Amino acid sequence: MSLRGSYDLAAADFSVVQDWAAYSSDEHALFRRLYQRQAKLVPLYACSEWIEAIARLDAGGGIPKFDQVSAKLRAATGWEIVAVPGLIPDEAFFTHLAGRRFPVTVWLRKPEEFDYIVEPDVFHDFFGHVPLLFDPVYADHLHAYGKGGLKAMRLDAVKLLARLYWYTIEFGLIKTPGGVRAYGAGLISSGGELAYCVSDLAPKRLDFDLERALRTDYQIDRYQTTYFVIDSFAQLMRDTAPDFTPIYERLRGLATLAP
Ligand code: PHE
Ligand code: CO
Repeated sequence: MSLRGSYDLAAADFSVVQDWAAYSSDEHALFRRLYQRQAKLVPLYACSEWIEAIARLDAGGGIPKFDQVSAKLRAATGWEIVAVPGLIPDEAFFTHLAGRRFPVTVWLRKPEEFDYIVEPDVFHDFFGHVPLLFDPVYADHLHAYGKGGLKAMRLDAVKLLARLYWYTIEFGLIKTPGGVRAYGAGLISSGGELAYCVSDLAPKRLDFDLERALRTDYQIDRYQTTYFVIDSFAQLMRDTAPDFTPIYERLRGLATLAP
């Protein structure tokens, strides 16, 4: 499947058809290899909500059929997934989340990108993001985030809100009885950073602080130097529930923090 960057085939909402039959057996095999590598790590480093959810997806056999995944998700939390050609514009992205649709990239990375890929592919989007959509609180929080994104566009505050996404949905850590674990998709789908974020002594692990996350820059091309740790998805929901309008106003006058 070479839909990488095929935006000309996309609908107005940037969705495309997942032509499942077009994936090659090599692509399914590469997906399985990525899956198997992570399968050894997630029992040690991923949060229990993610571990419980992946079992419902039965996705170790190859690139999943999005329609089948959507049917399970709809029944569980009212979410579905939509195929997209890659990163999509903010407004389309937020509109999908606000409609409880998670955009999943259709194409898979090349074998030489096994360890590292700069943009999201189907493995990152599916393995990293989709399982937690089965968790009711997480699912409602991401829905609220989507609506908050559309509001942030009107307030010219997407840059601030995107940092929250980065430090939670992509690179968030959560406290558990067994210690800190990963719930962020960028961590759960990473061969190297998943163990690093939990076990390495180098990075900072700060208790989640909404305003600090909104103010903190991030680096997209290396392991994070700062992680934010939530107590629970309920805390994430609660701390992000207030109207951000005055927070955006206040933060605009303050310096951005280095990670
Ligand atoms: N409460 C935020 C607002 O009023 C919206 C939001 C919800 C943002 C959840 C992120 C996560 O803008
Ligand atoms: Co992602």
